[in-house]
Amino acid sequence: MITFDQINYILSDIFTRYQSLVTALGTVLINRDLNGRVRLILSATVEANTELTDQLQSLLEDVNEQLAPHAWPASRLVLFEDDLEAIKQGSPAFALPDYPNVFVVDRLATETDWQTIEAESATPRVVFFSIKGGVGRSSALAATAWSLAQSGKRVLVLDLDLESPGLSTAILPEEKQPKYGITDWLVEDLVDNGDNVMQDMIASSDLSHDGEILVVPAHGTNPGEYISKLGRVWMPKLQADGSRESWSQRLQRLILQLENKYQPDIVLIDSRAGIDEVASSCITDLGARLILLFAIDGSQTWSGYNILFKHWQRAGVIQKIRERLQIVSGLTPDTDTAHYLEQLRENAWNIFTDTQYDAITAGEIIGDRWNFEESDDTAPHSPWAVHWHRSFTGLQSLHGRLFEIDTKQVDMIFGQVINGIADLSEQDLRD
Ligand SMILES: Nc1ncnc2c1ncn2[C@@H]1O[C@H](COP(=O)(O)OP(=O)(O)O)[C@@H](O)[C@H]1O
Ligand SMILES: [Mg+2]
Repeated sequence: MITFDQINYILSDIFTRYQSLVTALGTVLINRDLNGRVRLILSATVEANTELTDQLQSLLEDVNEQLAPHAWPASRLVLFEDDLEAIKQGSPAFALPDYPNVFVVDRLATETDWQTIEAESATPRVVFFSIKGGVGRSSALAATAWSLAQSGKRVLVLDLDLESPGLSTAILPEEKQPKYGITDWLVEDLVDNGDNVMQDMIASSDLSHDGEILVVPAHGTNPGEYISKLGRVWMPKLQADGSRESWSQRLQRLILQLENKYQPDIVLIDSRAGIDEVASSCITDLGARLILLFAIDGSQTWSGYNILFKHWQRAGVIQKIRERLQIVSGLTPDTDTAHYLEQLRENAWNIFTDTQYDAITAGEIIGDRWNFEESDDTAPHSPWAVHWHRSFTGLQSLHGRLFEIDTKQVDMIFGQVINGIADLSEQDLRD
């Protein structure tokens, strides 16, 4: 019995048996469609070469036989196309290990691609991410925004946790919530109507007197047909010239527009939680300079991060984003704290070592390879702690809480995160 996970291994095996043919085919795309069924896409020049197409027949039969039900029938298993590069660019694609000319192209219900990862934006952006909800992520973001604004910064806050929004109510009082939110923009943009909601999707918070907190919520005062809209937000946009723009590129465009218009010193993004393609792209595709990975020590957290890191490893993007990652210990217990953090650091180090760190002596930097010792406080696996504090449990209104809080208490609970992010925006000023 064959399941999805075996597709690449079986194809590798078959290709090894047809090594010279596979080399002669030039670029080979393994197209895994929405149903997880495989088709090969080859250059149109192959189709014109009868010698190659003859040899190809037996390979196609082998693929069909060994991959069923995850392959198309042999007679329809191959497509010939003129522009393989364009197909590769349009979807997440990664090279099959040991085959530099063979690429796996994934068609997912939520279309994204890996092309936007490198672009780091001029304004520092920080993504707050977690595998699960309820780890104190939005509260930490709100406290950070408050603290940075207190020190005179203009902070732009985006609630991208569209499936589970809540950040804006923490920072804005009810009467200040704007009419629209990010969801409205993503839906209106599909019909070129984004500019019309842009004006009314942002509000200034009353929490800070020195700097400014600008908030773009997930939805407006009246969420409207929120679930119907949510079903459309992760759509790619078909441009007039026939090209496609993935949702993460659309979102990039929105954030850039907001940055240009409001000129924030820093942008804080509350990401979608979980380990699906959309959550993964929130981390990799938004040009963030720093990605905070909230963790509560436990097997659910680590198995989740392991899945995510392995996904980036397979896609060959881990080297591009590992320098931006930072583990944060959420809701750190107030008893036995040092031991808890040590344990969390050890567990984080284990999966970073498995999936991200290179096999070189720790601390040494050779070219662009890197590694960190378990005890290295500056390492991305070494947690910044957000402390659990009774005054933040089960809050009716975080906005009310932040309204009355003092700097000392915020620093005590959220200090490591706030300082880490403040350093980032200082660095930017010095550049
Ligand atoms: N530092 C903290 N100490 C104690 N409770 C907290 C803290 N931060 C958040 N909480 C509480 O934990 C719950 C989840 O917080 P929230 O910030 O919404 O988490 P997330 O965004 O990860 O879902 C809320 O009830 C909140 O009041
Ligand atoms: Mg949240």
